[in-house]
Amino acid sequence: MNGDGPVTIAQISDLHCGSPHFVPSLLERAIAELNELGPDCVIVSGDLTNDGFRPEYQTAREYLDRLECERVIVVPGNHDSRNVGYVHFEELFGERSTFLHIDGVSIVAIDSTEPDLDHGTIGRGRYPWIQECFANDAYLRIFVLHHHLLPVPGTGRERNIVHDAGDALETLQRADCHLVLSGHKHVSYAWRLEDLFVVNAGTVSTTRLRGKTKPCYGVIEASPERVTVYRKYPFHEQEAILQFDPRTYEYEKSGQLLGETATG
Ligand SMILES: [Fe+2]
Ligand SMILES: [Fe+2]
Repeated sequence: MNGDGPVTIAQISDLHCGSPHFVPSLLERAIAELNELGPDCVIVSGDLTNDGFRPEYQTAREYLDRLECERVIVVPGNHDSRNVGYVHFEELFGERSTFLHIDGVSIVAIDSTEPDLDHGTIGRGRYPWIQECFANDAYLRIFVLHHHLLPVPGTGRERNIVHDAGDALETLQRADCHLVLSGHKHVSYAWRLEDLFVVNAGTVSTTRLRGKTKPCYGVIEASPERVTVYRKYPFHEQEAILQFDPRTYEYEKSGQLLGETATG
């Protein structure tokens, strides 16, 4: 936050407050760890609730109020848009899409949900806005949405992907976006597609897991020469899953991304 050093961004996703699989101690711990870390921004990439009900939203609000970070970006997930939950979202969290610029890093975060549907949509009408937001001299451009833009390995049958994923990916490439951050599948993974890095976060606070994956969240450390994406397990260690140079797109990806799921 000093304007000179690296910018640190944390991403938590798929909290699912109100779900029988929600584990309060995981979210409490993640929030405590984030307060210790002191990132410049915390991104919450959707599925705050399980069914979009107001008490679930209030619980999520209470947890997120404990974050000491001044900049918190929140977008809804498909679960939050159930039962007209977006009404509560707007009341308790504000705008469903956001643009933020922090010390050379531009972040565009959008609501990719549709009421009562599980799939995602960005929509052609929003492509010009995305391009306008990214038309600046940021050294790193980050796009945030709940749904996955590319299939995520280790997640079984493909479904609920963004309906206009192809056009959206092309728009992001043309806008010189470097990094996409999403959630939804509850499995952490990273792809490189042309000059775009696409990182999916796991669920931070539920046992709604796939295979042998574990609850986790993301931490991104960015400087004009290097961007490193870490996966952090609440109560446990963190590991670098992706590093890249935002000028040349030269990159290194962990061979352990799927952990035991890849072979087990
Ligand atoms: Fe979810
Ligand atoms: Fe979801």
